[in-house]
Amino acid sequence: MAARPNPVIALYPGSFDPITNGHLDLIDRGAKLCDHLIVAILRNEEKQPLFSVEERMEMLREVVRAYPNVEVDSFNGLLVDYAKQKNATTILRGIRAISDYEYELQMALMNRRLCPSVETVFLMASEAYSFISSRLIKQVIALGGNISGLVPPSVEVRLRDRVLNGV
Ligand code: PNS
Repeated sequence: MAARPNPVIALYPGSFDPITNGHLDLIDRGAKLCDHLIVAILRNEEKQPLFSVEERMEMLREVVRAYPNVEVDSFNGLLVDYAKQKNATTILRGIRAISDYEYELQMALMNRRLCPSVETVFLMASEAYSFISSRLIKQVIALGGNISGLVPPSVEVRLRDRVLNGV
C-alpha cells in the first residue's frame, strides 16, 4: 500500500485467550486496510484467563511474524485513552454473526461518545471461522474434541499442554 501523508494506525483490541484462526483472519484483513495495526490485549484483572497476558502476547507474536506492519501490545484502562496514546484513529472489531452485533454496537457507541475522533470499523470474519470463539475452543479441547484447523498449530500445542497436561 502506498504511504499516506498521515499513516493510518488501527487497533485490534481483545482478550485473545487464546488467539484463534478467526482472529488471525481478521488481522490478515485488517493489516491490508491500514499502515500500522496494533493487536492490543486488555490487561483485565477481573477475568480469570487460561493464559497470562505475557503468554498471549508471545503466542500472538509468533503468528503475526509474517506481517511487517502488525505489532502486539497490551493495555490497561479505557481503550480510547490507549488509542490516543498510540495515535490510533481506528478500532477494528470482527463480527461473526448477528449475535455479536448488540455487544459490538454498545462498545462502538460508548467509544464514540468517549472519543468521537476514533472510528470503529467492523470486518466480517470469513464464514469458515464464523463459529469459532476462544471460549468454545477451550471447552472443546477440555472435553477431548478436535480443534485442529481452528487455531494456529503453535497455539494448539500450548492449549494441549495447559488444558490436558496442566503445564
Ligand atoms: O475479546 P473481547 O473480550 O470481546 O474484547 C473486549 C475489549 C477488550 C475490546 C473491551 O472489553 C475493551 O475495550 N475494554 C477496555 C475498557 C473500555 O474501554 N471500556 C469502555 C468501552 S466499551
